[in-house]
Amino acid sequence: MGAYGTDEKIRWLGACLLVLCLWGASRATAASPPSAAECLGCHASGVMGAPRVDAAGYAHGRHGAFSCITCHASITSIPHPAQVAPVTAKTCAGCHAAAYQSYLSTAHGQAAALGLADAPTCASCHDPHLALPPTDPASRVSPAHRLATCGGCHTGADPKLAGYDPHPQPDDPAKSALVTWAHYFMVALLAGVFGFFGLHTLLWLQRSFVGRARGELAPLRHFGGPHIQRFSVADRLTHLTVILSFMLLALTGLPLMHPTAAWAPALTHFFGGVHEMQLIHLVNAAITFGYFFFHLCYLGYRVLVKKQRYRLFGEDSLIPNWTDIKDIGRNFLWFLYLAPPPKMGRWTYWEKFDYWAVFWGVAIIGASGLLLAAPVFFTRFIPGIWLNVSFVVHSEEALLATGFIFIFHFFHNHLRPQNFPIDVAIFTGRVPLERFKEERPLHYERLVSEGRLEQSIVPPPSTLMTVISVIFGAAVVVTGVVLIALVIFAG
Ligand code: HEC
Ligand code: HEC
Ligand code: HEC
Ligand code: HEC
Ligand code: HEC
Repeated sequence: MGAYGTDEKIRWLGACLLVLCLWGASRATAASPPSAAECLGCHASGVMGAPRVDAAGYAHGRHGAFSCITCHASITSIPHPAQVAPVTAKTCAGCHAAAYQSYLSTAHGQAAALGLADAPTCASCHDPHLALPPTDPASRVSPAHRLATCGGCHTGADPKLAGYDPHPQPDDPAKSALVTWAHYFMVALLAGVFGFFGLHTLLWLQRSFVGRARGELAPLRHFGGPHIQRFSVADRLTHLTVILSFMLLALTGLPLMHPTAAWAPALTHFFGGVHEMQLIHLVNAAITFGYFFFHLCYLGYRVLVKKQRYRLFGEDSLIPNWTDIKDIGRNFLWFLYLAPPPKMGRWTYWEKFDYWAVFWGVAIIGASGLLLAAPVFFTRFIPGIWLNVSFVVHSEEALLATGFIFIFHFFHNHLRPQNFPIDVAIFTGRVPLERFKEERPLHYERLVSEGRLEQSIVPPPSTLMTVISVIFGAAVVVTGVVLIALVIFAG
């Protein structure tokens, strides 16, 4: 008899066989990942209710050489669960970085990035299983099919809507010269305004600090005593409406412009979602048109009904004149220690710039915004590419307006050392007489020489009015500065 009995030999053999089988089985499951052919085994025929994928079309398309799990990466074995993770735009972005970036630069990509469920993803316009160049007649975005693809969401669209480019590239004139020129124009405008006022602000800032250190400039802080009425009730109410609507437009527009910034989803959530945020944007756009119209009527009323006559280029007029040009020159000489500061009259050149900038801004941002708010309606009359132009103009003008107001307008009126931290004259309507004399010597002298000083003198604003103005003004200034920081932080 050997060391082992027959029973034991059989047991050993069985154990070896079991190990062999387990090894073989593990080899089988760790086998190469499922191929397209394996997936198509069910999906080409639609067995067991599998959604159908056209095998011939897949092979013919530009993705034909890829295995299905290049995109459906969550599927690692067959059979797979009934529910699998959807393939998102980010998957496509891995290979189509440029198309993804341009998509993100449109309302479609922005709304999708902020979580709007009915916003199109890549697969809403492209068939990922039949990836064809847009020139191929079988492509869903070919000229023959494009309108139908867009019309799936934009019902009742005119063929002109299809002229809108879902992948705009403003830097590439070969795509659309019109969009490129609109972009270059806006960039030049931005560079011009920010360049000029950036330099102006920096020079002014250093001159103010040096002036303070030398004791030439005292902060213009006076309370109590006689005041001068500087702004009418209508002016102040208009300005208040401008502030409130502008802040809300900025708060509800910025997340869409920077959908991938860390703060964008939180702000969107705060407003209740993409559609709700856009509704608030539209309401405030309507208010903007409203105050614009009100101001024009108010001017008309003063000139036509009250018969107030202004000399168009006179000292009370907001129309820029030769003196403004000279004041700019004199101010720069003062900034550079070459001359005393210019004496200012009723309106300074930077105040006139602020005033006219609103006319330009409302016209440009209002017209472009209107087109974008109703793309299907307006493309009955204008080519779709004009919506791309509108979009470029709208977003770049928004950057110009928020940047200008939150940096330069705030510096001119609140943040420069003499006014810091806040000048409430636009809220109370009144300026202390002492301060008025220092700040607007020419206007003061004119009121005296015309014998009108007495009638312009008013009592100081109530303490309550002043306190409310300071709190409100400070809240707006802080919000604006934070928003600009967020934009810079978003890159
Ligand atoms: C054995 C047949 C079979 C094979 C092989 C198969 N599928 Fe499926 N697949 C199905 C069926 C059946 C459904 C429908 C499930 C349902 O709706 O209940 C489905 C659904 C899907 C869905 C939609 C899932 C959803 O959440 O709606 C995707 C995507 C998918 N399969 C991809 C693949 C890929 C990729 C492969 C290859 C790696 C593959 N399938 C291999 C049978 C198969
Ligand atoms: C280029 C990426 C990509 C490749 C490659 C790809 N798919 Fe898809 N597939 C998608 C996208 C995008 C969707 C739609 C979004 C979603 O449902 O995830 C989709 C959806 C599906 C669906 C669900 C369709 C429905 O009507 O519900 C099935 C089934 C499917 N794919 C099977 C396959 C099979 C089989 C292959 C290989 C022959 C394949 N896919 C290759 C991107 C891809
Ligand atoms: C609203 C519809 C729409 C959406 C959403 C969309 N595209 Fe397009 N795509 C088009 C149209 C229309 C064209 C053809 C016109 C063009 O080239 O600009 C196109 C062209 C392309 C091209 C071919 C470009 C070329 O020059 O050959 C690629 C690649 C592409 N898209 C990928 C994507 C990806 C990736 C996404 C998602 C990040 C996406 N698309 C989202 C409509 C869309
Ligand atoms: C693994 C890389 C990869 C992924 C992921 C991928 N593609 Fe592609 N795609 C390609 C390549 C390569 C081509 C052919 C060359 C080209 O046109 O860029 C192509 C071509 C295309 C085309 C035809 C464009 C043309 O002008 O020929 C479209 C449309 C397209 N892809 C859409 C998509 C969409 C939508 C997704 C996401 C669902 C996607 N692709 C995901 C690599 C990829
Ligand atoms: C899946 C649905 C869907 C498809 C497909 C679709 N869109 Fe849209 N589109 C939307 C939604 C949703 C919005 C609004 C986004 C928002 O609220 O900001 C929109 C907005 C627009 C706008 C306004 C742009 C702006 O800057 O405000 C234009 C123009 C437009 N789409 C054109 C097209 C064209 C052209 C196509 C076809 C190539 C198309 N869309 C395909 C859903 C779709």
